[in-house]
Amino acid sequence: MAQRVRKAVLPVAGLGTRFLPATKAMAKEMLTVVDRPLIQYAVEECLAAGIEEFVFVTGRNKGAIEDHFDSAYELEDTLVRRKKTAELKQTEDSTIKAGNAIFTRQQKPLGLGHAVWCARHWIGREPFAVLLPDELTIDKPSCIGQLVAAHDKTGGNVVAVMNVPREQTKSYGIAAVKPEKDGLQEITGMVEKPKPEEAPSTLALIGRYVLTPEVFDHLDKHETGAGGEIQLTDGMAKMIGQQPFHALTYRGQRYDCGNRLGFLEANIAVALHRADTAVDTRALLSRLLKG
Ligand code: G1P
Repeated sequence: MAQRVRKAVLPVAGLGTRFLPATKAMAKEMLTVVDRPLIQYAVEECLAAGIEEFVFVTGRNKGAIEDHFDSAYELEDTLVRRKKTAELKQTEDSTIKAGNAIFTRQQKPLGLGHAVWCARHWIGREPFAVLLPDELTIDKPSCIGQLVAAHDKTGGNVVAVMNVPREQTKSYGIAAVKPEKDGLQEITGMVEKPKPEEAPSTLALIGRYVLTPEVFDHLDKHETGAGGEIQLTDGMAKMIGQQPFHALTYRGQRYDCGNRLGFLEANIAVALHRADTAVDTRALLSRLLKG
């Protein structure tokens, strides 16, 4: 039986230049989708999958993320006095349990592989999840939940993939796989941001991973790859053939909140999806579209 996945690494050191000026003084992960910051969706996705310990790999100007997951005594006290029970619950529910979150800084922007490597001492020698918070998935069971369930069966590494148009392979890590068996595909190769004509397939990594700690042994070497950065994809590729490595095709909705249109789409989609906002949002959209 595979060791249980208890910890997640959340790389949040990125500058968010695509959202300037909004991100001039604010972490991009604190941008809100409807009523909660993007980073909270990733944390909730983990909690729903039974993952309760978090390593946030942060950078300068990311302090609001740490404050967000702390309790907010003055605010909660005021809400209690004003009998704002629902608001109090919202606030308390976004607090991570005491001692369950660590914030460590990636001091130089050397790439995603380096950001994940910065978490190595807090992960130790056990399997762990990685979630890129820019990628928002809202279906149930959650994307990371599906990977954890697959890992329980197969052990080793399991990553989520989705088919993308071939001209987009240069934006993603791309996996080469064997035919599907029991919903999983064995990975035979992996390459970061290949040109469309060189991509081994159109199966893109979508920022959800369950990895074994051996990936740190490869990232330790600090080898650079695509864009001159230390790539997580390259570290993972070194484990292929050494231990089980599977791709799970995610069939739910995924929103790329790393760009403005994807972020806008996520806001509309989440508002249409949620029971408390769906009807009003639908009416609002049809009014705007008529205008
Ligand atoms: C990162 C990863 C890439 C993955 C992508 C998903 O790239 O390096 O393998 O496909 O996230 O969003 P980035 O978008 O940070 O350049």
